[in-house]
Amino acid sequence: MSVSPSASSPVPPVLSALGRRARPPAITALMQVALETPGLLSLAAGFTDNATLPLTALGEGMRRLTLEAPDKEFLQYGTNAGRPGLRAALAARVLAQDAAAGGGGAPAVAPEAVAARAAQTFVTNGSQQALYLAVQTLCEPGDIVLLDRPSYFVFLELLGGLGVEARSLPTDVEGRLDARALAVMLGQLRSSGARSRLKAVYFVSWFSNPSGRTLGADEKRVLAATLRAEDCVVPVIEDAAYRELGFDPAAASAQAGVLGDRAWDGFPRLYTGTLTKPFATGLKVGFGMCDDAAWRSAMLHVKGHQDFGTANFAQALLERALLDGGFEAQLGVLRGAYREKRDALHQALVAGGLAGLGWRWRVPEGGLYLWLEGPPGLDTGGDSAFCRACLREGVLYVPGALCHGDAPPKNTVRLSYGVLPPSALAEAGARFCRAARACAAPLASDAAQAEGAAR
Ligand SMILES: Cc1ncc(COP(=O)(O)O)c(C=O)c1O
Repeated sequence: MSVSPSASSPVPPVLSALGRRARPPAITALMQVALETPGLLSLAAGFTDNATLPLTALGEGMRRLTLEAPDKEFLQYGTNAGRPGLRAALAARVLAQDAAAGGGGAPAVAPEAVAARAAQTFVTNGSQQALYLAVQTLCEPGDIVLLDRPSYFVFLELLGGLGVEARSLPTDVEGRLDARALAVMLGQLRSSGARSRLKAVYFVSWFSNPSGRTLGADEKRVLAATLRAEDCVVPVIEDAAYRELGFDPAAASAQAGVLGDRAWDGFPRLYTGTLTKPFATGLKVGFGMCDDAAWRSAMLHVKGHQDFGTANFAQALLERALLDGGFEAQLGVLRGAYREKRDALHQALVAGGLAGLGWRWRVPEGGLYLWLEGPPGLDTGGDSAFCRACLREGVLYVPGALCHGDAPPKNTVRLSYGVLPPSALAEAGARFCRAARACAAPLASDAAQAEGAAR
């Protein structure tokens, strides 16, 4: 007798390899902890400051849009690559920033150059979508992408989801690219036969998530030169998500992006940027600029399959804000607010005596993050005693080990000052220091025991 499945018994779908590989994002688990723990102060999420969101500028932008575009085109579907006016405004902005990097202020950018760059520009659902399209159109499972150390952990998760192997670039003790070690690493890739699997290089140039560090122009040039010398001219993805968030407005022009630097000539280049963090994350508009026609077309084809265009209304609002000065004005507000918040968190760590407990950190000049290195031997992982001590104190952080392609150090931490107001940052910093102190004693006694055992 054959038994047919009853109408009510669900038949599980057979997931694709991609569906099976996909893991819940680490940030979801961290945010869940934050939601479930009353009174917890989260320094984990990379969200932005609610108090400074540009409500008035958006209200005014919306009012003018409705008055000045009575055909309501902004409520209609747009084009796959994005609004021509927004693409031109973005092209002009990035070209001017790159041109000013040569020194001598911001020279005028020729209209033909703007038109050419606008043609290479496409608008995306946050720069996150551009990053995903980039890897999806370059890599097969098993391929290799090189990336900065430490790097943006959602990019690492994206690679994992696509089955791509992440390898972190070697750095020296100051966190600078170690060109000699890189040459050795690339040589080993060649001799092991893995060179053909190397498909791209990715890095966050300005005020990095997670390290707050800016990759210097000289470092980027050394990276390009080493890749070239080792026969590794592969697509380069420069993530400029925090370029606009330097506390000094001139920081965006302190160096050119890869598209404006001859050192990268010959490399297929993708530059990604965003209008979320510097304006309104809720609008979720970012962009890519790619100088390789075949790669750009492939990304646009896949985008066409995914959504055939980013929300036209959000783009129209941002186009207006860029053209009427609202975007620039908002940046002025953000720079002051984030500098104050950085100070509040940094000073709380200083006042809490963290340095005396063997912790080190650099004070960033922009972005949203402090990157801390704990004493050697400390484990800051999600299930570590240190993490539990932080939760008992009521503070949450991102374990730094999540931010590495390989050989993750166990004693690093990312703290974000984006969300909490200064007073709450001061309290969160004090809690973090109390947890560090609580975990310092056992470490010290472990060291004493080890010393005793060695005698
Ligand atoms: C380094 C970096 N790149 C890209 C993104 C993506 O941001 P969005 O999609 O909002 O542009 C983020 C967001 O946190 C980020 O930190």
